Amino acid sequence: MKSATARANANIALVKYWGKSNHDLNIPAVPSLSMTLDGLGTTVSLSPSAKGHELIIENRLCSPEDSEWLRLADFLEQLRSLYHFPDYFSVKTSATVPYKAGLASSASFYAALSKAFHHALDLKLSNRELSTLARLGSASAARSIFAGFAGLEVGATHEEAHAFPLFCPLALSMVLCIVDSGPKYLSSREAMKITSGTSVFFPAFQEHATEDFLRAKKALAEGSLPTLGALMEQSTLKMHASMWVAKPSINYLKPKTLELIEAIYALRKSHGPLAFFTMDAGPHVKVLCEKKDASFIATSLKNQCPSIDMCISEPGPGAQLCHE
Ligand code: PMV
Repeated sequence: MKSATARANANIALVKYWGKSNHDLNIPAVPSLSMTLDGLGTTVSLSPSAKGHELIIENRLCSPEDSEWLRLADFLEQLRSLYHFPDYFSVKTSATVPYKAGLASSASFYAALSKAFHHALDLKLSNRELSTLARLGSASAARSIFAGFAGLEVGATHEEAHAFPLFCPLALSMVLCIVDSGPKYLSSREAMKITSGTSVFFPAFQEHATEDFLRAKKALAEGSLPTLGALMEQSTLKMHASMWVAKPSINYLKPKTLELIEAIYALRKSHGPLAFFTMDAGPHVKVLCEKKDASFIATSLKNQCPSIDMCISEPGPGAQLCHE
């Protein structure tokens, strides 16, 4: 086995994945659609280890009791059952995206790790096949294999549940409004389990997801931001509504999240349909807009909510090998 280093960027779902149809294979219950972000990602180095799997996050050696280590070891053992390699791995990561904060750090981590693993074992997989490996670690990671925009199929089998690239004729950007960079209080894995098992709104979220996905895919291909943005807001609101009525209720949003949403509504009232919001398993607001409007939108939102950190990102590259 060779050593390998790869990098992948985080992605933000415009149409959300929430809930699983197969827990062992980590297959989503609904299709999703995302934008891969430029400059916000994780670099992962993989090398053989003599003494069992080892995980080093930002120079900190994780203990085998840590949840991150357990999740990684599960993933590597799933890969072992598919590819029958004899080794253990040392996995070192460093990220430019806050860790476990609802900013898709696990998507970039598992996409980069899968890319490095692919090279280390000299597997000759297509990107679609590679995305199924990444999905085993974190379903949203499948989408980070691709540059720009990507879809993720539900599929009945491991092979069918792959991501695929999508094209958008518009130059789009995302304004990321960081409400709080601390770790989230509940993992998305746990939150999905509670929501799909107890929320009376989850069946409604699931029932409408395929239609939302197909309509968003069409709007993306046609470059219609108002249609895409409206579907994006519907998808995130349905996802959070289904979490709110779960038992126990799950709420990732903060007062500042709602302030930002109000500021976006006000912007649209005065300037037309130029900015649309989405939130994931965290309080941050991600604003989709045309590239030409991004600085104006960021400045307007900063004026309304001065304590919020903001950055602007554009569609970025997919998972790539780093040659040292
Ligand atoms: O792949 P996970 O387990 O990190 O879940 C991602 C869930 C959301 O970010 C809320 C939605 C999505 O499609 O990325």
